[in-house]
Amino acid sequence: MNPVDIIIKKRDGGELTRAEIDFFIQGMTSGAIPDYQVAAWAMAVYFQGMSAQETADLTLAMAASGEQLDLHDVIPGAMIVDKHSSGGVGDKTTLAVGPIVAACGLPVGKMSGRGLSFSGGTIDKLESIRGWTAELSEEQFRTQLREIGLVVAAQTADLAPADKSLYALRDVTGTVPSLPLIAASIMSKKLAAGTDAIVLDVKCGRGAFMETLDDARALARLMVAIGTLARRKVTALITQMEQPLGLAVGNALEVKEAIATLHGNGPADFQELVQRVASEMLILAGAAANSDDAQSQVQRAIDSGAAFDKLRAFVSAQGGDPVQLEHPENLPGAPVQLAVPAPVSGYVHRVDAREVGLTSVALGGGRQKKGDAIDPAVGIVLAAKVGSEVNAGDPLCTVHARTEEAAHDATRRLQAAFTIAPTPADPLPIILDHVTA
Ligand code: URA
Repeated sequence: MNPVDIIIKKRDGGELTRAEIDFFIQGMTSGAIPDYQVAAWAMAVYFQGMSAQETADLTLAMAASGEQLDLHDVIPGAMIVDKHSSGGVGDKTTLAVGPIVAACGLPVGKMSGRGLSFSGGTIDKLESIRGWTAELSEEQFRTQLREIGLVVAAQTADLAPADKSLYALRDVTGTVPSLPLIAASIMSKKLAAGTDAIVLDVKCGRGAFMETLDDARALARLMVAIGTLARRKVTALITQMEQPLGLAVGNALEVKEAIATLHGNGPADFQELVQRVASEMLILAGAAANSDDAQSQVQRAIDSGAAFDKLRAFVSAQGGDPVQLEHPENLPGAPVQLAVPAPVSGYVHRVDAREVGLTSVALGGGRQKKGDAIDPAVGIVLAAKVGSEVNAGDPLCTVHARTEEAAHDATRRLQAAFTIAPTPADPLPIILDHVTA
């Protein structure tokens, strides 16, 4: 077999066999197939798509590209749950949901990713906390899962290494928003990480890789089907990503918002999403009898402070400074903060999440090319969302930047990202659909 023939077959719309997919993924993982051929293949997949069979084969090949964890001996009899987002702007859900669910007594063993294109990544966000590391050995992962009940780790080099290389290449070759590549990327990690139950948060809208409800449903159904095939319990929520989630976009800024949410003071849309995802995890794993029971467990974990305590315990266990969580004002802060004024009075009809995400990347909060360093302090904090009434000159958001020049560039982009009109607009719902097996 030859990588060029496989690229050409996909470029011309052919359906790859299991053997061809295995060959390509093995070659990519071992380094025998160079980045430029993988990038060409990813672009061919982007344009030609993949059948359900090819996507399932790709997922299994990527899951089998490295070690596959079995966590059942860590806490005998317990179900290990996870959640995974398909990626969005301001999406700090894991930072709040993980501690809540773990505080309810359900072990959460999570492999998370870094930022991808305009969407942020949980690992980048947590790395804003001084000393925190995502690089854990399998032994450390197991010990922490047993002792604390919550781990958020980067994919180890051994776990779905094919996804690790492909993910980094897709980020910088314009091949992220491909339904089969996203489905295989997410599900290969989940299958390899040994999780029993997975709640998928499929984002939909301008700030997501799936912009329409139809595409988001197709991705959700595909991932639920792949998970069910692999005998995992999987459910998917389709959630709003037309505008950024919550108010904060940017790494340390999002950690602060997640902390506020664990104290019960988060923005309404984010608080609602967090409580719903956490409830779904409890229900899916059989730790709650029904949705009322799940919601009251979640509320108790927040009100009692148990969820925040769990955040502190897990961050400390991974080397992070717990004082920064107790005093979030000590998290990295940007030297320049500039309010972006509303150019006219009216109601906010649109906040273009993608543009806000790209502005955050341009400020240094994300990567423009593979391996770029992230600036944890920069980002944007919204002051208005869809449905808000604003007067000309009111702040639409605040830019947190390294330099005055960067702040002014961001201000121009952000003003254009808001659509303000004279007629009232309804706030956007956060949960759009629920796809079950
Ligand atoms: N999250 C992932 O893990 N992979 C993708 O491709 C997109 C979002």
